[in-house]
Amino acid sequence: MQPRIVTLNVNGRKHQVAMDPNVTLLYALRDLGYSDVKNGCEIGECGACAVLLNGKPVNSCMVLACQVDGAEIVTNSGLGTMDDPHPLQEAFADTGAIQCGFCTPGMIISAKALLDRNPHPTEREIREAISGNICRCTGYGQIIEAVQVAAKKMEEASDEV
Ligand code: FES
Ligand code: FES
Repeated sequence: MQPRIVTLNVNGRKHQVAMDPNVTLLYALRDLGYSDVKNGCEIGECGACAVLLNGKPVNSCMVLACQVDGAEIVTNSGLGTMDDPHPLQEAFADTGAIQCGFCTPGMIISAKALLDRNPHPTEREIREAISGNICRCTGYGQIIEAVQVAAKKMEEASDEV
């Protein structure tokens, strides 16, 4: 197969790379160094590889990189930094929602997509939003709490503006 030049805009940074047409977005992102995009199953069942693609959550193992030429992609590391974390990242750390941490980037991406469309989710809505993300450490209680804490914090921050 002939490689194609694909443009991926990741966390605000533009990458132009030659890649085989059968390379998944998951592999393309990891090859570019975005190790926060985890490879858990490669069959769309665990959510560890979730990213925002033009604002919508997708499992990057189920998308070919050449299908998303020019798209805007956000990974967990694009949401915040150690010095300036996103409220979700802070809440996951504060509530003990991170155990081994393997599922965390994908969980945070799913939670971010939820809070973007629904800033005041119920517990049921949070459970539904993360239903495609598997936590092998089974810390779902703390994960749900983290999303609730982040939602509250984001609401308070928007009230202050
Ligand atoms: S690695 Fe993509 S859903 Fe599991
Ligand atoms: S914290 Fe270990 S898989 Fe979720």
